[in-house]
Formats: sequence, structure tokens, C-alpha cells
Amino acid sequence: MSRYDLVVYGASGFTGQYVVEYVHRAAKESNLSWAVAGRSEGRVRAVLDRAGKVVGSDLASTPIIVADSSDTSSLLAMAVQAKVVLNCVGPYRFYGEPVVEACVEAGAHHVDISGEPQFLEKMQLKYHDKAVENGVYVVGACGFDSIPADMGQVCVKQAMGGDVNSVESYLKVIVPDLPGAAINFGTWQSAIHGFAHAGELKSLRKAIYPERMPPTRPKLKPRGTLHYSNIVEAWCMPFMGSDKSVMTRTQRGFYHDKDQRPTQIQAYFQVSSLFSAFSIMLVGILFGILANFKWGRYILENFPGLCSFGAVSKDGVPKEKADNTNFEMILVGEGWRERVCLKGTNDTDATPHHCVPGDNHVGSCQSAQPGNCAECPGTPGSDCSRCDQVSSVKPDRYKIGLPFPPPCDGCEGVDWSGYSVRDVVKIPANLPAGKYILGFRYDCEATAQVWSNCADVVLE
Ligand SMILES: NC(=O)c1ccc[n+]([C@@H]2O[C@H](COP(=O)([O-])OP(=O)(O)OC[C@H]3O[C@@H](n4cnc5c(N)ncnc54)[C@H](OP(=O)(O)O)[C@@H]3O)[C@@H](O)[C@H]2O)c1
Repeated sequence: MSRYDLVVYGASGFTGQYVVEYVHRAAKESNLSWAVAGRSEGRVRAVLDRAGKVVGSDLASTPIIVADSSDTSSLLAMAVQAKVVLNCVGPYRFYGEPVVEACVEAGAHHVDISGEPQFLEKMQLKYHDKAVENGVYVVGACGFDSIPADMGQVCVKQAMGGDVNSVESYLKVIVPDLPGAAINFGTWQSAIHGFAHAGELKSLRKAIYPERMPPTRPKLKPRGTLHYSNIVEAWCMPFMGSDKSVMTRTQRGFYHDKDQRPTQIQAYFQVSSLFSAFSIMLVGILFGILANFKWGRYILENFPGLCSFGAVSKDGVPKEKADNTNFEMILVGEGWRERVCLKGTNDTDATPHHCVPGDNHVGSCQSAQPGNCAECPGTPGSDCSRCDQVSSVKPDRYKIGLPFPPPCDGCEGVDWSGYSVRDVVKIPANLPAGKYILGFRYDCEATAQVWSNCADVVLE
């Protein structure tokens, strides 16, 4: 039986409707076959009708597959008809796993827009081996969470050319001053349950990656809960979305699968004023307290507007408001134009022209090619294993405008200016919708499995 190239599952949801519009355009451009799926044929048909009016095409003949996440056989019947399932049914904590399981079983690739780290990492833990065996890709977090941040860090790495010691992302969301909520209930509900079960992450991560990533330095010091950033010239707060965890998982991929030096990550978002910062803090505190209790979650789920000062609604975001909501992201990377030695890796490429061939040294590259990486970059005669010792560099040295500290003890006193670079990638607001997302290509052939968005992304 021939399969549809793409099946949009959860087409009737707030996000699913947009995905239907974009997939229609992409399918037309690239001559792809596609179908829509959901638990209610009537609701999916209504979406086709609405989306058809938006894109100016009659979509009534688009094939419809009826599948309910509580009915495994219906999910399998959907998955066997798809090459790729675009899964928009959330919260993924409740509805996601059976879809992944059906896709892995039926040999259909699975792409989701989950911003729920527990779901993303649990799927990796449970289905990785089977997915590899069946040649299936399970690619998570392919939405606003967390493509810009994850792609952005890869852009920084490409731009810098060498090892990136740290990336800080600064998100700015631009919401037009129009009536109605700014966040749909589905996202709010996913956040409530994600927050309530954040404690699961520790053991999940230990199970997926028993080996810790090595500490790297200079250490990236988290900036305050509320701080003024000279980089983006705005008040900023830590971003509680999935970006940091998705980006860190990509770093896991780079480190474990490719022996690359991990980058430290911090994610922030900009607030428009101190007043809105305090309002957000107030909602955050209320949210944090309530989400921890069953009765509290009941209140959050049943009175979303009240608990969010009107930011969330079960009626969704008005179309005009959603269409004019924008974001901008700035990623600041600091690191070196060179690869830097890292103990325990077989990185024979690390700063090769600073190495002394034939000098059989202990150090990061010993097992792969004895003699390589015998020196820290720029420090004649030094031992590269020192690159991994705990830095004596004080965190307060790691400040914008000050010289970038060297990567190892004993490397002080050397002119590091040739090695310390900062690169900024800006993902501007007002990109034509869909264009750039569809322009990213997942270079899947290169690896056995893609769980993190960016480990193998090539920007076209
Ligand atoms: N990564 C990102 O940037 C991003 C952006 C937006 C949303 N999201 C995530 O995407 C998810 C969906 O958000 P949303 O705002 O689109 O939610 P939504 O409007 O509530 O849509 C949920 C969809 O799931 C379907 N569904 C629910 N239970 C189902 C079941 N048992 N079987 C089959 N389908 C079922 C619904 O179908 P019916 O219409 O039949 O009820 C609907 O199509 C959330 O987890 C949200 O966090 C992520």
C-alpha cells in the first residue's frame, strides 16, 4: 500500500489548523501527498473548510483518517498510511506516547510540537532502540518551542567555526495590542502538567545518559531572575519553556555521538517593562504554587483567564492577534575559533596546528591519535589535559566587555584574543510565516537516530 508523504494528526486543534495551511502550501510546492487525521471526522472536515478559505483552495477532497489516541488500533491504522506523521495532539503527556509507539511500530516517522521535556525524553528512553531498529525518526519540539533556539545555537556554532563555550538566548515576543488571549489553553495545560511533574526529569536523564557531561569553562553564570541586559537593552528573565532542555539535549548528541565539546546554555526572555516583569512574576508564583497540587491544577485548568490575568483562554487566540504576534530571538555565543581539547574525547581535530606531533602526551586525544592535542592552544609546551581542570577563573570575570577567559588553568598570560570570539545570531521578527521553517533540512542520513532537533541540521 502506498503511504501519504505527510499526515497531520490533530488537525482540528488550534495549532493543527495552522499546520494544515502550511502543509497544503508545502505539499503544493514539493508535490507531496497528504492527509489529515483526528478523532472527530466532523471537526477535521470543518478545519479543511476553514483552511481552504484561508489558502484559497478547495481542500474538501483531502483524505481524512479517523484516529483517537485512546484507541491503539486506530493509531496503527493511521501510522501504516503515513511516511511522516505530524502530531499536533497535546498535551503530549496524556496523548503522545501511543502515537509514538504506533509510528515506531508501523515504520512512520514522527514529528511533534511538544514543548514538554518529560515527554520528549521519556520517548527517547523508551523507544530509541526500537526506532533505530525500524529505521524511524522521532523528531520532537518542532515548533516555536524549540526550533529557533535549537537551530540558532547550531548557527552560532557554524558561524564561530570552533568550540562554543556558551550560548545565551534572548527571546522577545511581540504581541499586538488587540483584544483576546495571547496563549491557547492547550499550551497552558501542557505547561501546568509539565511543571507539576518537573521532578521526573532527573531520573529520566540519569537513565538516558548515565554518563555526565564534563564540566566546561569558563563557567556560564546564570543571570538573575530579573536583570537588565546590555546585550538586548531590555529587562530579562529566565525563559521557563523547553528551549534550554532541548538545546542541552542537542549538546548531549554532539558530545556523546560526535565527541564534541558541550556548550553551556541559558535561555532568557525580554519583558517590555518592569511592571510587566512583576506581573509575570506574580502569575509565575501563583502558577508555581497551584500547579503542585491537584486542587491547584483544577483551578488553573478551569479558570485559565483568571489565573493568567487574561493571557490564556479556552477559546484560543483570535486569528488577527495570532497572525500578528511575532518574536525575535538573539543568541549570543562565546567561544573559540578553534576546537579546544576536552578530556575523555577522541577529538583528533582539536586545535591540530597547535599540537606537537609525535609528543606522546596524556590528554584528551591520546587514545585516538597519540601526540595530537599535546598543547593548549597558544601555550607552547603546556599539557592539554589541563584544559579540563576546574577553572580558577572567577565567574564575575565572565562579563560582557571583559576579555574572554582562557579555557584552562596555566593558560593565563597568553594572548587569547585570537581564540576568544563572540558571535551573535539574530532571528528577526516578521519572517514570512512558514518559509524559513520549511527551509530547514534534517540531514537524517548522517546518523542512526535523530532525537534532538539540531544535531544534524544543515541550513539551506
Ligand atoms: N512547540 C510549540 O511551539 C507549540 C506551539 C503550540 C502548541 N504546542 C503544543 O501543541 C499541543 C496542542 O496545542 P493546541 O493549542 O493546538 O491544543 P488544542 O487546540 O487543544 O488541540 C488539541 C488537539 O488534540 C486533539 N485531541 C485531544 N484529545 C485527543 C484524543 N484522545 N485523540 C485524538 N485527538 C485528540 C484535539 O481534537 P478535538 O478537536 O477532536 O478535540 C485537537 O485537535 C499542546 O501540547 C501545546 O503545548 C506547542
